Order: sequence, then C-alpha cells, then structure tokens
Amino acid sequence: MSQHPRPKFTYLGHATILCELPEGEVVLIDPWVQNNPACPEALKKLDRIDAMLITHAHSDHMGDAVELARRHKPKTVVANFEICSWLGTKGVENCSGMNLGGCQEVLGMQVTMVRADHSCGISDGDQILYGGTAAGYIVRLAGGFTFYHAGDTALFSDMQLLGEMYRPELAFLPIGDHFTMDPQQAARACRFLGVRKVIPIHWGTFPVLTGTPEKLEQALGDQGTSCEVIGLKPGEIY
Ligand code: NI
Ligand code: MN
Repeated sequence: MSQHPRPKFTYLGHATILCELPEGEVVLIDPWVQNNPACPEALKKLDRIDAMLITHAHSDHMGDAVELARRHKPKTVVANFEICSWLGTKGVENCSGMNLGGCQEVLGMQVTMVRADHSCGISDGDQILYGGTAAGYIVRLAGGFTFYHAGDTALFSDMQLLGEMYRPELAFLPIGDHFTMDPQQAARACRFLGVRKVIPIHWGTFPVLTGTPEKLEQALGDQGTSCEVIGLKPGEIY
C-alpha cells in the first residue's frame, strides 16, 4: 500500500485517461474525446486541461488534440518531436517535444517517454505523414506515486526494465488485440512490470478489439501472476 497522494483517474474510453492531480490540475492523456464513440456524452465537455500527454499520432489517440488545445490552452502539450512540430503548424501552442528515454517536468510531475512497439503516422487530410515513433509514458508525481501508460504497443521484454527502474504501482495497458497486445500478452506485461494494479484500455471500442478485462483476469490467473484488474467502464473513476 502506498501513502502517496493519489491522482483521480477518469476513464474516458478507449485509451483516453483524465488524470486529476492532488493539487487539482488536470492532465489529459491521449486526447480523443468529442469524436470518441466510447466516451460518455456527459464527459465530453471538459472544464480544464492543464497538460496533455500524447502517446502517438493515430487519430484514436490525438484526434481531438488540436481542438482541445485551442479551447483549453494547456500549459504544456507533450508528444514526440515530430508530432509537436505538426501540432505547431496547426496552431497548438506550448508544445514540448521530446523523445524516447527523455524526461521532463510537467506540472511538478516527472514525465519519461518510453518505448512502445507500434507505428505513428500522422493522418493529415488524405495523407499519412511521418510521425516519429510511438511511445508510452512513465509518470512520477511529486509525492512519489508512479504510473505507466503504455499507449498502443505489442509486448516487449524491456517492460521488465521499466518495472525495475521506475517501480510503477499502476499500469494502463492495451488489451484489445489486433492493433496491440491481447490479454495473454498484457498479463505477461503485468509480470514484467511488477505492477499490483492494471487498468485495461484500448478494448471494446470497435468489434476487432476483442480483449476484455475478464480475459485479462483469466490470463493472469493462468500465468500465476497476482495483479488486480481494475476493469473501468468509460466514465468510471479510479
Ligand atoms: Ni495506434
Ligand atoms: Mn490505437
């Protein structure tokens, strides 16, 4: 058990997480809200966004980044260098591009960009532009609470290294299959990371995303890994 002050996480559906810090500031991870079919209507109107973290350029992760940034004027928008350059051309201010392995302070949090095995093209009109590499984030709050948002990724064994180095207490892991890990791979990821709690993301939004929190629970049991599955439905809070 941790004594660290914990943020409040609201699952907006798919891979989008609204994180309210203990001080009240709001971080939006993977800004896909208005056009996210999984996001409950009542939650589509956000009061404030103080920072945005973008894992990669696919529209189901940053489809509403430009509009939300224009409206809410976050202090910092974090993404890789290529995405930040592109967002800049669309009028998004305060972009702070980074790259894998790097860390920067955002609203008092230490945000480390880490590997994800996935693609990262930017859809712009009918073109797909080069968008750098996809990423995940290790986020360490000022009080010490640490979580990992994997973005879209396949399983990779360096998740064990992330576990050793950062000791995240909580992981947001994709489980849907087809574009990312399935529940079997996500269960192995939980073991590599050494996390006690996992919140499944990137499932159920479309028919091809067949993984479910129940299947993840089953896979963890089959693999003998003890990790609590917090199966949030869109709109639910942890
Ligand atoms: Ni993707
Ligand atoms: Mn995706």
